[in-house]
Amino acid sequence: MKRFEGKNVVITGAASGVGLATAERIAEEGGNVALMDINGEGVQKVAEDLAKRFGVKTFAYDLDVSNGAQAKERIDEAAKDLGGFDTLLHIAGILRTYHTHEMTYEQWHHIINVNLHGTFYVNHAALPHLLANRFSAIVNMSSTSAIGSHPWMSAYAASKGGVISFTRALYIEYVKQGLRANCVVGGGIATPLHSDFKPPAGGDMDLMRGAMPYVSFAKPKHAASVIAFLASDDARFINGTEIRADGGALS
Ligand SMILES: NC(=O)c1ccc[n+]([C@@H]2O[C@H](COP(=O)([O-])OP(=O)(O)OC[C@H]3O[C@@H](n4cnc5c(N)ncnc54)[C@H](O)[C@@H]3O)[C@@H](O)[C@H]2O)c1
Repeated sequence: MKRFEGKNVVITGAASGVGLATAERIAEEGGNVALMDINGEGVQKVAEDLAKRFGVKTFAYDLDVSNGAQAKERIDEAAKDLGGFDTLLHIAGILRTYHTHEMTYEQWHHIINVNLHGTFYVNHAALPHLLANRFSAIVNMSSTSAIGSHPWMSAYAASKGGVISFTRALYIEYVKQGLRANCVVGGGIATPLHSDFKPPAGGDMDLMRGAMPYVSFAKPKHAASVIAFLASDDARFINGTEIRADGGALS
């Protein structure tokens, strides 16, 4: 499939895990990509690798999504380098676990700043560029923690719930301008974020049972294929909603 030929796609979180697999999938399908990550060196390597393997245009930018001014600067720069873009895949995010009653305000704010404010900053900066096209698409990355019940993740869950609500609001606001805005609600994807997961001291793992798929954990490419589908014209009639990709954990 070459669904992204002639398309220019901005992808955040592209140095690792789901973002990296998504960048690979889009480039494999012919899309030019602007890759952003707080790990600037990592994302530069990914950009070079994809350009070599797939012959598409690739650009890399060092971006902390929790910095609004920087997000605007990098996204404007990407629009210039790409000659405009029609697709935003905002995947960057972090997970930290705490007993909520012990969490400091700083710990709460860090997660909300990266996952929720970061989603606003990146989407906000991208919107003027997206809306310059007849058709455009946003896919934001949420999590089963937003709609299931995961212990020790109150800040993470709130941030990812906010991502769903924010994305639905975007859909209705810009639907008549040709924008599609959807979320992937992921769960159980084998990435560094997932393997680094640890309960806080004394956390009872029995409480995590409802979050586990009965099948083995997904590979990043299995989330990437859902993101690519939502971003592509195959999903032309899907707007303002979520696709849950969690191996059935919440079913
Ligand atoms: N792995 C899972 O099971 C799972 C489930 C649901 C949702 N998600 C979501 O998927 C997304 C990708 O996570 P992943 O599992 O691939 O993890 P990952 O740690 O492999 O990748 C996350 C990427 O985001 C980047 N990043 C972190 N903070 C950043 C910041 N402030 N600015 C810019 N980039 C930043 C990291 O450098 C990394 O490259 C996240 O939003 C995560 O919440 C993951």
